[in-house]
Amino acid sequence: MAYAAFRSIGAYAPSKVLSNDDLAKMVDTSDEWITKRTGIKERRIAANDEFTSDMGVKAAKLAIERSGLDKSEIDMVVCATISPDYFCMPSTATIISTKLGLGNVTAFDISAACTGFVYILSIAKAFIESGMKKNVLIIGAEKLSAITDYTDRATCILFGDGAGAAVISATDNKDEAIIDIHTGADGQFADLLMSPNGGSGSFHDTLEQEATSCFMQMKGNETFKVAVKTLTKDVVEILKENSILASDIKHFVPHQANLRIIKAVGDALKLDDEQVVLTVEKYGNTSGASIPMAINDIYESGRLQAGELMLLDAFGGGLTWGSALVPFSPLK
Ligand code: UT7
Repeated sequence: MAYAAFRSIGAYAPSKVLSNDDLAKMVDTSDEWITKRTGIKERRIAANDEFTSDMGVKAAKLAIERSGLDKSEIDMVVCATISPDYFCMPSTATIISTKLGLGNVTAFDISAACTGFVYILSIAKAFIESGMKKNVLIIGAEKLSAITDYTDRATCILFGDGAGAAVISATDNKDEAIIDIHTGADGQFADLLMSPNGGSGSFHDTLEQEATSCFMQMKGNETFKVAVKTLTKDVVEILKENSILASDIKHFVPHQANLRIIKAVGDALKLDDEQVVLTVEKYGNTSGASIPMAINDIYESGRLQAGELMLLDAFGGGLTWGSALVPFSPLK
């Protein structure tokens, strides 16, 4: 049986910075409130003519280069995004694979909101373990600024743009393999975090203008409570099921939604600060891009070494959630 190895990482963040002070000029908020409630100080915003696929391409180029593979060896591209270049079609994954010149590959998007990267990791693992694919490029890419309502202080302070990508490859060596991935969803909580307009559900009973808007709406406090409860339970379970101790985790790489959620989950596992990877302060919440952007951060700063074990966790609209136990396994 083939196993799936996490070979490489890459990421891209747009250069334009939107600070808390900038937001305080746009809505009734303050740097103090945002910092205290979320841990976010600033986020990046893509240029008008910079699409989700453009950011995905930049992250993917780095991931392919660092994988040691030739791009012709990539046989599948999966993109997690809730802010695709085009709603409905074509998929952002097909646009990215063409811009990268990958030729004839399987390519598709998935929608699992902020849990997207954990979901595409599980898809890559399943395709590789079944023998259907050998080298899968997975990308979390978001231009959330395009679906953010900058008059709504409850959401606009949270989100930013960016992309992260990884190459997942087949290996015979079980020691290199992704150990386990949990994914879950519960549509009962759909209304906590959603873009209510713009889909087939809204065309018949809303004005045209509303129907074309995909702005996100969130019941933040309720989402917060479900997130802490669900994630705390999930990370404890994935460690227990795999007989792994929290002290065996070198890097806890959570979805970067809110510093208080991250701390609550880290405390439940009794993790030391050095184990917890944080980028929320500088990038905010970039949904499906946040985990790979955070992994890239520890890679580029030299903190992520071959063989080290990462615990990923994420939570987002749907509601969806997931966790993963992933050794970093670059080709020697
Ligand atoms: O990534 C996907 C999953 N998403 C999440 O996990 C996000 C989860 N939720 C959160 O991170 C937090 O709920 C928020 C950061 C969004 C909000 O923090 P909170 O501590 O839950 O605040 P709250 O919604 O309970 O609001 C408290 C107060 C309210 O005022 P009153 O009713 O007490 O007078 C809000 O109107 O804070 C007010 N408020 C703000 N004040 C200043 C809400 N947003 C702001 C703001 N600036 N930006």
